[in-house]
Amino acid sequence: MIVPDYPIRTERLLLRPLTSDDREALLAYRSIPEVCRYVPFEPMDLAEIDRRMGGMWAVTSLPEQPGANITLGVEHDGVLVGDVVLMRPAEPEGTAEIGYIFSPDVAGRGFATEACRPLLALAFDDLGMHRVIGRLDARNAPSARVLERLGMRLEGHFVEDDWFKGEWSSTLVYALLEREWRSR
Ligand SMILES: CC(C)(COP(=O)(O)OP(=O)(O)OC[C@H]1O[C@@H](n2cnc3c(N)ncnc32)[C@H](O)[C@@H]1OP(=O)(O)O)[C@@H](O)C(=O)NCCC(=O)NCCS
Repeated sequence: MIVPDYPIRTERLLLRPLTSDDREALLAYRSIPEVCRYVPFEPMDLAEIDRRMGGMWAVTSLPEQPGANITLGVEHDGVLVGDVVLMRPAEPEGTAEIGYIFSPDVAGRGFATEACRPLLALAFDDLGMHRVIGRLDARNAPSARVLERLGMRLEGHFVEDDWFKGEWSSTLVYALLEREWRSR
């Protein structure tokens, strides 16, 4: 089991597992319809937050097996401002995926980009991944810019491949190889 040395610190942020003390802060942004517009879940209530807290959000070790994932809360000045996830899709082998969701209160400050950098280090250095991807709805321009700032390449644009929240939507796939990450 690989458990990172928490908290993981960046210049302005701190990453660490979520706890039940985060319930209200999570609710504050995960209940907003616009925040959830392009993510694969509906706006959450406290019951859903509690359900996840007792399940997938209780994981503190890195996803060593395909299908596993870890979610980390992101704090700025002692306040939970967002959360990030590192996932191991069932396939292909050697690929991890990142995801992120932040409070609109902190939009436009580079926090999402900054919080994802240590996720790349966990994927490549700690888990020995070959490739990290980011997947998003093609209309989610701020999310695409996060991945571009991280140095990820646009690899695929799948046109109306996903029946998503009542309509066909297109998917962008960004990727970064370990050697590309190390050469930066
Ligand atoms: C996707 C999401 C995290 C992007 O948030 P964001 O605030 O645009 O991204 P960042 O925190 O990296 O901030 C980047 C912005 O801050 C600006 N910025 C200011 N200071 C900065 C700094 N020190 N470093 C980097 N960027 C900085 C950048 O110029 C950029 O602005 P721009 O995109 O207008 O050019 C946010 O929109 C969100 O949570 N959306 C809902 C959930 C979601 O869709 N998640 C993704 C699913 S695929």
